[in-house]
Amino acid sequence: MTMRQPVELEKSYLLLNHGPVTLVSAAQGGRRNVMAAAWAMPLDFSPPKVAVVIDGRTWSRELIEASGEFVLNIPCRAMAEQVLAVGSCTGREVDKFATFAIGTSAEAVTQAPLIDGCIAWLACRVIPEAHNQRRYDLFIAEVVGAWADPRVFAEGRWRFPSDDLRTIHYLAGGNFLASGDAFAAGGQ
Ligand SMILES: Cc1cc2nc3c(=O)[nH]c(=O)nc-3n(C[C@H](O)[C@H](O)[C@H](O)COP(=O)(O)O)c2cc1C
Repeated sequence: MTMRQPVELEKSYLLLNHGPVTLVSAAQGGRRNVMAAAWAMPLDFSPPKVAVVIDGRTWSRELIEASGEFVLNIPCRAMAEQVLAVGSCTGREVDKFATFAIGTSAEAVTQAPLIDGCIAWLACRVIPEAHNQRRYDLFIAEVVGAWADPRVFAEGRWRFPSDDLRTIHYLAGGNFLASGDAFAAGGQ
């Protein structure tokens, strides 16, 4: 079951603040794809911006440069196998959506699909920076839409009601950490 409700754009950086692995989805002219990306981070509050590294050899890179858009989908622990799978083959050779039974839905903000089963989604419009893209594979984008599963993120706070819904954080070689229990510091 996928649940989704809008997140205020000014709060959307919180969806990335703790460094979860992401699924980057993109679409252009009837072609669509999804890959894993661990190297994504928030960059600014208002207007909200993110930065993500998209390797120049990926097919996703081609779709993102052609469309100027992508979605950063935040998967949960229940999706770890799919994350690894879509990060280990190329959409040039495989229809990842069919092969790995990945459902999607559309939103009106970008052409890129939202990946079902994720717990948060950031729709992003690329701010072209040719030098950074070519030299560092670094894409800077404005967040133009944000949604989260209200079981996990509501009123600006994360909470993890079950292990399956925890965010996952990539180490290497197929190993992940799952987020732990939330706690407060500084008397807040
Ligand atoms: C967990 C995980 C994290 C990854 N993080 C990144 C990343 O941050 N940036 C990147 O360019 N590739 C990353 N990759 C590799 C891409 O997902 C991989 O090259 C993918 O096959 C590209 O698919 P495509 O050619 O269909 O676009 C990661 C792979 C895995 C498994």
